[in-house]
Amino acid sequence: MSQSTRRSTARAPAPSEPPSAAKGVRIRTPIPGPKAKKIVEADTRLLMTSTKTSPVTAARAKGVWVDDVDGNRILDFTSGVGVLNVGHCHPAVVKAVQDQAAELMHFAGTDFYYENQTLLADRLTHLTPGDFGKKVFFTNSGTESAEAALKLARWNRQRPITIGLLGAFHGRSMGSLTMTASKTTQRARFDAFAGGGHHIPPPNCFRCPYQLEYPSCDLYCAKILKELYFETSIPPDDVAAFIAEPVMGEGGYIVPPKGWHAAIKSICDEHGILFIDDEVQAGMGRTGRWFAIEHHGIVPDMVTTAKALGGGLPIGAVIFRKDLDYTYQGAHSNTFGGNLVSVAAALATLDTIEREKLLENTRVQGAHLMERLRELQTRYEEIGDVRGLGLMVATEFVRSREDRTPNVRLKDRIIEEAYRRGLLLLPCGRSSIRYIPPLVITREEVDEGVEILDASIRAARQG
Ligand SMILES: Cc1ncc(COP(=O)(O)O)c(C=O)c1O
Repeated sequence: MSQSTRRSTARAPAPSEPPSAAKGVRIRTPIPGPKAKKIVEADTRLLMTSTKTSPVTAARAKGVWVDDVDGNRILDFTSGVGVLNVGHCHPAVVKAVQDQAAELMHFAGTDFYYENQTLLADRLTHLTPGDFGKKVFFTNSGTESAEAALKLARWNRQRPITIGLLGAFHGRSMGSLTMTASKTTQRARFDAFAGGGHHIPPPNCFRCPYQLEYPSCDLYCAKILKELYFETSIPPDDVAAFIAEPVMGEGGYIVPPKGWHAAIKSICDEHGILFIDDEVQAGMGRTGRWFAIEHHGIVPDMVTTAKALGGGLPIGAVIFRKDLDYTYQGAHSNTFGGNLVSVAAALATLDTIEREKLLENTRVQGAHLMERLRELQTRYEEIGDVRGLGLMVATEFVRSREDRTPNVRLKDRIIEEAYRRGLLLLPCGRSSIRYIPPLVITREEVDEGVEILDASIRAARQG
């Protein structure tokens, strides 16, 4: 177990100390340390089995730095699974939350009125692509955003089918799970879902399902929808919506090839099928644009968002073409959507992304990170692919570049070696690791992370 003492060796902060602004990884105990172990044990005893990755136990955090309960300081390349785009405990978000909580916390924004949700809705209608009238529905999570969008599509089109991609992730409640097809563990024993869900193979050039090469493939992975599926198993006039992520997240950070979205959208338009753009993971600046669909040059009918919107507080939204709105009350609603404190946090998050020019920083640091990972790829033949947009980047681990067999064990070992050295990472897909630090990250912090990753890969290969 690594016990490297990097930079500061200051004493562990007492629990009452303010969030640490200190930088540099600091390892004072094995991770998990004695206090962390107790929490992990209690958690395992009391909390439902979910998706735990690493026994890292946070006490406080600031920017890209997390202090754990044993006094270790960890570099966060996970952003709370894509939530903390403005960094942990950004002072502007903290202040907005504190001020709003002291004023008015909840008033049921779906049933009554208050101003801040109209301000946030207005901002979102202007930030999302599409020069047409839009409206917004606020939710509390990504899955709830997917549910709201899928219901709105069905209600409008009065058609029973939704099409998505194999490998996609849209959430775990029954409607969104119907369209999630990222891992069979997510779906096993839950059939029959919400019904009407169909999936087509993903636009994954590293593992092309048709063993073709881009661009000579002529985007067969899009054309097949019309040329095969619509001729055989899916009647196009029964389809309400096509849902896709602009960059497939949980499925492995797969960036569809240029032209794929436009080809799918044009098939959808031909048949009156609504295109739902799931920006829950890729949106809010993560790829260097407000919404990742902007890289693909199409305008969706609906955009779903959540995760990073609230800067750390739970809030999601569906932003949709105004003409798709319900024509009577009661078809859809919720209790907490547009909660005042979450909305205040979201407004502060948007301000921070603008004021601190985080889209630009994402493009600059993302290019640097990608370059550093490509350099690692030249040294380690197990790095089969380096891909992504902005600071939504992943490396796919293989046994060797020739046979491309997914190297799941190596990926797991690297993640473990990394957190022991003070770098927090998350997997995606079968054998990939994603790198999604807060967008406030500096070049020095990117470099520190890549150096720890390098050491972790070396150690994992030997193990
Ligand atoms: C693209 C995408 N959509 C939806 C979701 C579901 O979000 P939540 O976990 O907030 O329900 C996720 C979560 O990872 C996601 O990545």
